[in-house]
Amino acid sequence: MSLPSQVLEEIAERFGTPFYVYDFDAVEARVAALGATVGPRFEIAFAVKANPSLGLLTVLGRTGIGADVASRGELRTARKAGLAASRLLATGPSKTDEDLDAMIRAGIGQIHAEGPEELERMEAIAARLKRNVRVGLRLNPEWGIEETRTIIGGPGAKKFGFDIPSAERALRTRDRFPHLAIGGFQVFNASNVLDAGALVENTRRVLELAVSLARRHDVPLRVVDFGGGLGVPYQDGEKPLDLRRLGKGLAAIARNVDRQPLLAETRLVFEPGRFLVAQAGEYVVKVVGTKMSRGSFYVLVDGGIHHLVRPALIGTPHRVRAVGPRPGAARKCIVAGPLCTSIDVLHASARIPVPKRGDLISVENAGAYGYTESMPLFLSHEWPAEVGVRDGRIALLRRPPAVRDLLARQLRPF
Ligand SMILES: Cc1ncc(COP(=O)(O)O)c(C=O)c1O
Repeated sequence: MSLPSQVLEEIAERFGTPFYVYDFDAVEARVAALGATVGPRFEIAFAVKANPSLGLLTVLGRTGIGADVASRGELRTARKAGLAASRLLATGPSKTDEDLDAMIRAGIGQIHAEGPEELERMEAIAARLKRNVRVGLRLNPEWGIEETRTIIGGPGAKKFGFDIPSAERALRTRDRFPHLAIGGFQVFNASNVLDAGALVENTRRVLELAVSLARRHDVPLRVVDFGGGLGVPYQDGEKPLDLRRLGKGLAAIARNVDRQPLLAETRLVFEPGRFLVAQAGEYVVKVVGTKMSRGSFYVLVDGGIHHLVRPALIGTPHRVRAVGPRPGAARKCIVAGPLCTSIDVLHASARIPVPKRGDLISVENAGAYGYTESMPLFLSHEWPAEVGVRDGRIALLRRPPAVRDLLARQLRPF
């Protein structure tokens, strides 16, 4: 999924480089494809952390899906994008009292508690606000999907969720939480999974665990949430998730669900981030110059890991391509940014036609965990604009603060 060169060139002309661009048609196509895959028995809630752009969330919200928020900032963004509180879930470690307070006041669909201490804080806040709060327990079972690159961490000790004995203790003693209506479970421990079979098996096991805990402790199952984790290929040779296989597996689970009265009213939710938006986004930079160093050909560009840290953070490059037709055969090069660190490399072995100064290069798959996962303050370069495109029409989504505006917010001491 990549936008036509003339669209990228027009954006560069109007808003300067570097910039982020999101293809809204591609986002909607992704929602439709996933909706058809998971079928009517499962719901989709977009994990806002993958890309909290207000414009993008507005487009996603209009498709009718829900959202998962991890902070009061994400909650505020989702509400501003038009998502009703009832369509929101909240999940995230280290939620502060202020986060919980905002989530409880907003009356969102379900808040996932990440541990016993958080349940206690939630109870105190709910009691103070005189609210009854729908709560699910995030679980950290011993099994799960292993990750190839650590993002969430796979099974094992982690800051997320209740270990099962700890969840059982909380369920046994839930009378201590009169303002919390515990009625659901969430499990999510692996991101960027490309194996449809592993996702189906995980869904089956999570459901089985949720049902057995609900039966043992006599709690209702309002929501079972299977987290995100649906992957996209970043590198050549990686195969996309097999949606047919995923769909078949989930349809079998749905048939089984229909046979269980306990699950008749249960909302079954996936909360994907990456799958819905990664491929719809591009980060576009301009070539500042080229140079040789000890046999390596460098293409130096005006953007880098301060705007897209993921390649350096996770250790997987994103594909890059030259924007517009360029004469000449492809040549191996290192696409490097302006930061004073050698890790500021967008691609260590790209194959693109030799560019000239002023040419544009697009870094693909930048729609998830891109801009907002990065560190734009490093080295005081200008920030990229964010732009949305629908049917060839271009809309500015975020005017970035200029360095001069950022400087104006700093104070000299004494
Ligand atoms: C609680 C929760 N849900 C969903 C997601 C989305 O994951 P992904 O982008 O892999 O689908 C994340 C990602 O970190 C998460 O922490």
